[in-house]
Amino acid sequence: MNVTVRLAKNSGFCFGVKRAINLAMDASKNHDKIVTLGSIIHNPQMVNKLKKAGISSVNDIKEIKDQATIIRSHGIPKETYEYLSKLGIDIIDATCPYVSKTQKYAMELSEAGYPIVIMGDDQHPEVIALKSYIKTTAIVIKNADELKYEKFKKVALLSQTTKNIEDFKKIMLKLLEMSEEIRVINTICNATDVRQKSTFELAKESDIMIVVGGKNSSNTKMLAKISGKIIETFHIEEASELKKEWFTNKRRIGITAGASTPDWIIVEVYNKIIEFVGDESMLVEKVEDIPV
Ligand code: F3S
Repeated sequence: MNVTVRLAKNSGFCFGVKRAINLAMDASKNHDKIVTLGSIIHNPQMVNKLKKAGISSVNDIKEIKDQATIIRSHGIPKETYEYLSKLGIDIIDATCPYVSKTQKYAMELSEAGYPIVIMGDDQHPEVIALKSYIKTTAIVIKNADELKYEKFKKVALLSQTTKNIEDFKKIMLKLLEMSEEIRVINTICNATDVRQKSTFELAKESDIMIVVGGKNSSNTKMLAKISGKIIETFHIEEASELKKEWFTNKRRIGITAGASTPDWIIVEVYNKIIEFVGDESMLVEKVEDIPV
């Protein structure tokens, strides 16, 4: 049986995550004591790698005394930023520029008096941070079904950067019926959109899909959801979770990876699948060598 194993285009680290990791690694060279506020990315293997470079993560700002502090790509609430500045510690701000831009929109729209609907997960750090910039009402919903009917004179709509454009459009249409004026800013990150489309396309051409990334990574879970609607899909964090029987009688195998999945893990997953279904000549060393 002729088996193909392909990787979705644009898989793995996005621009914002690459930037955050580079900033963290650089900073670790100049600081003895350095922490990240929350895990820098939603990937346990990468978190371990950072730990080896002397970068640990704390979850409570009270644990920060004199350590240089890296702000991860999701950003942090305004008050937390102000608190850290007052402590006089070194802040390495690795907030993704797209996330900062969303925060800026939220601030401006709120100052202009718009209540703001955010499509996102209420407890996601990016959304918690985003809400801190809103002085008017912030309504967080996951989808159009969660939007209760209300009459707005004016209202604005923003999204958590890693969400899906189709859900966003549905909320927009519903808001249009409820309001005299709406301001919609598409804050869904292009990296997310492009990755989702590539996953969708590859899933259509595959008999099985393997989605690689943290089980708590919002954008990886979204890829698994998109792919799962089309074809049998398994969401794994690392190669050791793969099972040989998944690939029985599967000719076209697709792999995709979330924005916080390091390249080396994608390579390990690909090579493990090749061990199951292919031959040695197909093994790769770099992610760039995996067929797309
Ligand atoms: Fe930034 Fe988009 Fe990545 S918002 S952190 S480049 S998914």
